[in-house]
Amino acid sequence: ALSLKGRDFLGLADFAPDEVRYLIDLAIDLKRRQLGGEPHQPLKGKTLGMVFEKSSTRTRISFEVGMYQLGGHALFLSGNDLQIGRGETIWDTGQVMSRYLDGIMIRTFEHRKVVELARAATIPVINGLTDMSHPCQALADYQTVLEHKGRLAGLKVAYIGDGNNMVHSLMMGAAKLGMHFSVATPEGYEPSEGIVRSTKENAAETGSRIHVCHDPREAIEDADVVYTDVWASMGFEAEQQERVRAFANYQVNEELAQYAKGDYLFMHCLPAHRGEEVSEGVIDGEHSIIFDQAENRLHAQKAIMAAIM
Ligand code: CP
Ligand code: NVA
Repeated sequence: ALSLKGRDFLGLADFAPDEVRYLIDLAIDLKRRQLGGEPHQPLKGKTLGMVFEKSSTRTRISFEVGMYQLGGHALFLSGNDLQIGRGETIWDTGQVMSRYLDGIMIRTFEHRKVVELARAATIPVINGLTDMSHPCQALADYQTVLEHKGRLAGLKVAYIGDGNNMVHSLMMGAAKLGMHFSVATPEGYEPSEGIVRSTKENAAETGSRIHVCHDPREAIEDADVVYTDVWASMGFEAEQQERVRAFANYQVNEELAQYAKGDYLFMHCLPAHRGEEVSEGVIDGEHSIIFDQAENRLHAQKAIMAAIM
């Protein structure tokens, strides 16, 4: 049987298609048990350290609650309060944390830091968002699509907006799951070329098609899922004004959404800015499944933790 024990969860690229699907199926099973009141405590007595160098509502709450439901305990560790904020090395921090904890979740700016921490630690490390990727969110999102559509392979996902961490993880997830993916960004805001290249290599194995362009109308054509994210991610607040101008034609609104399939799903990782990347009518309308996505962060992360810790 498939086992992911001891693995890090840094990005979906590190997991084979059947491993990604396994995590989604496990998430659905753990959700069923949680909602049915069936005990499921494979992590009894275990602890997770959660390092946050950026703000969070969903990630923090869902990891902490998830760990509790699995029988373990989670510690909230603010980057400012840890000695890392005063210059202690990542190596020493990872070594020390490994002597107390059974797993680490980290949210930070540079992806390189997460990779270094994983190298230093002898326990599994989970990427809770970096400037490069947000794999926990993408996993929860595809669980949510599966629950709504009953299948994944062959569906078309369109992402309109900033070529950021979110699109990187969504695109790689789509490639792993055999879904087609179209992204439209303004010029100068494209997803990373390296990630697009490796996503396309993965896509070739599953029959998924990856398309990158600048025309929202072209990207959204016949989409089953329409996804967007904020125009200025955490750490890019200073560029807000300039981005509002650059992204003006990239709002997901009723006019654009008419080119998607009639039964399209609207998705957003949240937090959202109504009136910027998405209109109120779309995000609060009948196609929107944003709160199912948010809920599934809990179940998907429980699956990750139960599988690797
Ligand atoms: N979607 C997401 O990761 O939300 P938070 O920033 O609130 O954790
Ligand atoms: N792209 C956003 C996602 C927040 C969950 C950011 O990095 O701020």
